[in-house]
Amino acid sequence: MHIIISRHGESNYNLENRIGGDPSLSARGHEYGKRLAKYCKDNDVPEHLISSQLVRARQTVFYSSKIFSTYEICPELNEINAGVVEHLTYEEFKNRYPDEHKRRMNDKLNFRYLEGESYVDLIERTRPIVEEIVKTEKDTFIVCHRAVARALLFHLMKIDKKQVPHQEIPLHTILDLTGKPGEMNLTYHEI
Ligand code: G3H
Repeated sequence: MHIIISRHGESNYNLENRIGGDPSLSARGHEYGKRLAKYCKDNDVPEHLISSQLVRARQTVFYSSKIFSTYEICPELNEINAGVVEHLTYEEFKNRYPDEHKRRMNDKLNFRYLEGESYVDLIERTRPIVEEIVKTEKDTFIVCHRAVARALLFHLMKIDKKQVPHQEIPLHTILDLTGKPGEMNLTYHEI
């Protein structure tokens, strides 16, 4: 199978190191959306596109969605819900909720944001999406977010669960996965 995962382009919150929310793309983020469209035209990419419902993801696929045979928006691909720390910078999170921040640093996999989700929750939220892709054997292009991409990699590759929150998911880079789901091979392509 062939699955490509991309984070949305750079958002205005990325520029400020802010968590969550539903921000728009920065100018650089829009440029990534355009480069991604060109990449999809020039390369052999899956025909089925699914995107998170959040603005930064939908703006990223705006330039390329017509290239795909099918396009679906899946709220299950929305970023981890950071509860009370949504919209804060990581610095503000550390200063306002020092104990919570320490707990997260000590166990990022199991830590659940107050009124939000944990990486373990995210692994469960994304499981049906991967099951559907595997069941229908549909090569798929997925546009989502950093924490969600990590959860998806857990389902698609052999990754130690504890390492899930620490997987490298750079901006403006596609994660190209080939092989059998559960043991796929990953190649990064900066675009
Ligand atoms: O806004 C959420 C981030 O993309 C997740 O990253 O779990 O490394 O803080 P983090």
